[in-house]
Amino acid sequence: MIWGGVDILRAGAASLEILETLHAECFAVGWDAVSIAKMLAMPGATGTLAVISAGAEREAAPAGFLLGREAGGEAEIISTGVVPALRGRGIGGALVSEFTSRMRQRGVHAVFLEVAVDNEPALSLYKRIGFAPIGLRKSYYEPAGDNSSTGPTDALVMRCDS
Ligand SMILES: CC(C)(COP(=O)(O)OP(=O)(O)OC[C@H]1O[C@@H](n2cnc3c(N)ncnc32)[C@H](O)[C@@H]1OP(=O)(O)O)[C@@H](O)C(=O)NCCC(=O)NCCS
Repeated sequence: MIWGGVDILRAGAASLEILETLHAECFAVGWDAVSIAKMLAMPGATGTLAVISAGAEREAAPAGFLLGREAGGEAEIISTGVVPALRGRGIGGALVSEFTSRMRQRGVHAVFLEVAVDNEPALSLYKRIGFAPIGLRKSYYEPAGDNSSTGPTDALVMRCDS
C-alpha cells in the first residue's frame, strides 16, 4: 500500500540534480548528474521519479527513481531506489510496475535486471512484480566504502516476461 499520494512522473533534463540526490541517498556509491545525463542520452533510455504529492502539511517531495532502457524488443532496469525513510510502503513497487507496464505497452517482451543476491527487499519486490531468476553473475558487485573485507557480491540476473 502506497503511503499518501505518490505520482510517477517522467524525469527529464530538469530532473538531473534530483536524480543525483536520490541516487546518492539510495546507494553507497552514487552517480553524479553528468553520468546520469549520459545514461539518459542513450537510445531508448528513460527515467522516472516517484514524488510524494503535496498535502495540507507537506510539500511535494521526491521519494524514488527508476532508470531504464529499451532496445530491440527487450528492456532493462538499470537502477532504481527509494529514499530510506519511505521504503516498505510500495513506492519501489509502483516505480517498477510503471516501467514494466509501459514497456509492455511498447511491445517489449522481456524486462531484465541484476540484483545482489543478498538484497532481500529488492528480491522480494521483484518477485512480487513477476521477475524470476535466470542466471548468476559471480563476484559482480565490488564492496562499497569500508566493506572491502567482505569481498565482492554475486548478482542474480532476473527476467520478467510480458
Ligand atoms: C529495493 C527498494 C527500491 C525497494 O523500495 P520500496 O519502496 O521499499 O519497495 P516496496 O515497498 O514496493 O517493496 C519492498 C519489499 O521489501 C520488503 N522488505 C522491506 N524490508 C525488508 C527487509 N529488511 N528484509 C526483507 N524484505 C524487506 C517489503 O516487505 C516488500 O516486500 P513485498 O514486495 O513482498 O511486499 C529500496 O529498498 C531501495 O532503494 N534499496 C536501496 C537501493 C537498491 O537496492 N535498489 C535496487 C538495486 S537492484
